[in-house]
Amino acid sequence: MKQLNKQMVGTVVKTATTSRSAVGAAIDASGKDYADYISYQVRRNAGQRNSALKVIELPNGDLKWRSVPMSEFDKSERALASEEVVNVPSEQQEMLDFIHSSYSLKPRSLVMNELKWKHLIRSAVRGKNIMMTGSAGSGKTMAAKALVKALDRPDYVFNMGATQDPRSTLIGNVQFNPEAGTWLSESLFVKAIQTPGAVILLDELTRAHPDAWNILMPVLDQGQRYLRLDEKEDQATINVAKGVTFIATANIGNEYTATRALDKALLDRFTTIEMDLLNDEEESDLLAYMFPHVQTTVLNDVAKIAHLTRIESLNESPRIDNGISTRTSVEIAGLLYDGFSLVEAAEITIYPQYDASGGVDSERTFVKQIVQKFINDGSDEELFTEAEMDSDA
Ligand SMILES: Nc1ncnc2c1ncn2[C@@H]1O[C@H](COP(=O)(O)OP(=O)(O)OP(=O)(O)O)[C@@H](O)[C@H]1O
Ligand SMILES: [Mg+2]
Repeated sequence: MKQLNKQMVGTVVKTATTSRSAVGAAIDASGKDYADYISYQVRRNAGQRNSALKVIELPNGDLKWRSVPMSEFDKSERALASEEVVNVPSEQQEMLDFIHSSYSLKPRSLVMNELKWKHLIRSAVRGKNIMMTGSAGSGKTMAAKALVKALDRPDYVFNMGATQDPRSTLIGNVQFNPEAGTWLSESLFVKAIQTPGAVILLDELTRAHPDAWNILMPVLDQGQRYLRLDEKEDQATINVAKGVTFIATANIGNEYTATRALDKALLDRFTTIEMDLLNDEEESDLLAYMFPHVQTTVLNDVAKIAHLTRIESLNESPRIDNGISTRTSVEIAGLLYDGFSLVEAAEITIYPQYDASGGVDSERTFVKQIVQKFINDGSDEELFTEAEMDSDA
């Protein structure tokens, strides 16, 4: 039998010897055979107990094989499979563990697949600027807020779409009183960026005033990361504190006329994460989860209606520009819960979103036809008549 040496400490092998018969191999994760270094007896015992063997060093310096659970061998195999893991510093290991176990932090009410969610968490813990994209009512704001909550760090929310005066929202107001003279009353945003580790949500950033984008440009630039208090005079700047993460939401897409095309330069500063449209199954699961007291058959219909409109909007020459959003289906389900019928809920929430001009060829007529397929009011009467359609025009 060959002698073990110190370099072998920690080696884990799996033996192939389970009976008296064969003199089996004892291979490590990389496939190297250590049979010559292990007595037959030890190999056989390990094989019969289905345990692995590991080289350890005794306090007196002697080296020997110890029987360890097979999971140790599996672990060494995994470590070999992803080479970075072999030399992971403990901080990195913590980061990895956090990212890859983070799916449990996603609220049940948010539908987002595991990879996307983990990418979101990863981008945040790596200090990237994140831009949530996706169509209207697809959960961008919801996902951003869920992230803010999951991270358990100081958080600040700014609705950029609603700000008319970007300077006062992002920088502050110049004040004057006779004793103090002129001074700047700093905005909440100034406080936010000076808070180490803060997560700052810039909701509806694409709808913000272009002045806001200009002010944010250096703030979001990894090489600059400061806020200029006075654009003109090249005065004081405030540095963004360590570990601050920005997460923005975009409303890009032709459905929003109020949305200005976000400057390419600004967009470049973000990692983009797109919210997917839910398929009918995901949608009805969500509705059933949110409204357990509403009949599932009706909720399924709502999900199917939404799904059909989405598919249509993705067609090459679609009859409607936009599908019904998840926000709208949740609204419909809420109305059903409050005793409204599907016909009524559709009337209130869906139809107003579709243009009625063009009569029978209108978007609204098309959507009505889809809805009608799912409505069974007991009569054979059509939901709407030709005359009604004409009057819509
Ligand atoms: N992926 C989703 N998972 C769960 N709920 C969703 C999802 N998408 C939309 N919803 C529902 O729709 C509502 C609106 O979502 P949210 O405000 O996040 O959309 P948004 O993408 O930010 O829309 P907008 O483009 O109008 O800003 C949510 O409150 C939720 O009920
Ligand atoms: Mg939003």
